[in-house]
Amino acid sequence: MNELPVRPCVQWSPDGVAVDLLDQTLLPERETWLRLETWEAVAEAIRSLRVRGAPAIGIAGAFGLALGAEEAFRAGAEGIEERFAVCRTALLATRPTGRNLGWALERLGRAFDEALPDGPAAAVAAVRREADGVAADETDMCQRIGEAGVPLLPDGGATVLTHCNAGALATAGLGTALAPIYLARDRGIPVRVAACETRPVLQGARLTAWELTRAGIDTTVITDSTAAALLAAGRVNLVITGADRIAANGDVANKIGTYGLAVLARHHGIPFYVAAPRSTFDPSLATGQAIEIESRDDMEVRSGLGRTTTPPEAGVWNPAFDVTPAHLVTALVTDGGVLRPPYEPAIRRLLTEAPRLREHP
Ligand code: MRU
Repeated sequence: MNELPVRPCVQWSPDGVAVDLLDQTLLPERETWLRLETWEAVAEAIRSLRVRGAPAIGIAGAFGLALGAEEAFRAGAEGIEERFAVCRTALLATRPTGRNLGWALERLGRAFDEALPDGPAAAVAAVRREADGVAADETDMCQRIGEAGVPLLPDGGATVLTHCNAGALATAGLGTALAPIYLARDRGIPVRVAACETRPVLQGARLTAWELTRAGIDTTVITDSTAAALLAAGRVNLVITGADRIAANGDVANKIGTYGLAVLARHHGIPFYVAAPRSTFDPSLATGQAIEIESRDDMEVRSGLGRTTTPPEAGVWNPAFDVTPAHLVTALVTDGGVLRPPYEPAIRRLLTEAPRLREHP
């Protein structure tokens, strides 16, 4: 396992009774760690983007549900199942688009149900173990995505365009889209990154540029509307983004603006890759049209740089994600290797093959 570019942004507190979380809303100005002692506090942190990025949301949700299970246990054995279910439903509702959260909470739900015949204490302990398993698996999958993705970068070096933040801050490991970049750099391949700032909340400028520059990677932030000019100037070799949910046919939901970049990449004949672990795939949805797109508060768009930027009379439309049709995706870079079209059988194979995930005691 490679050294991580930043400390995992969601972890257990040293005393093991709370979740320590890096507040991403304050980056890059301040590096503030929060101590969250209840599942409700974790749910609030997810809703308000203190932790964000599909895999990191899944890990935070899992740790939150482990806290919820322990709280439900302290309230007494009677009714523990109901209290656990309420907590799980509430955490699942925090952010609807990313698949990893449901993937994680389903795992914890199964662990709880399977251990319950041995008593509530066993069920709660099983939930905590499974939460740790979710974090470990997401970390391992980032490493595998990185290994799969490095050969996609030209040996002589590359300039990669990325969008939003699909790096260490969005996962518990090397990231998804950024994992091949970190590994390539470690192997002596010169990599430069152009990061779209990613309006409205600037995950590219605030977070991607923060973690890449800390890791010593040459990074240039561009406004989202500069991407076309950069591609037209021939200054990008490939585009790599992450994903929040991928349908059975390979359609990809990711941060708003991703679809536009895919169209631009196709127009300019540049490969457009999407990097994601198996926990992001949702084979229950035939196409991306069925993916629920989170709509966020108008205020994210109405203001910027600390002031109002939009007259109150104007309406605002603020979807947090868009869907890129599979035919615009050159390849899906996964923990099970690089998937090429036709995606439907390739995704089916990825999800049915024995998941090469670590054994957790
Ligand atoms: O709203 P966010 O910041 O949670 O959106 C994050 C993204 O869209 C990422 O690209 C995606 O979750 C992949 S993270 C490995």
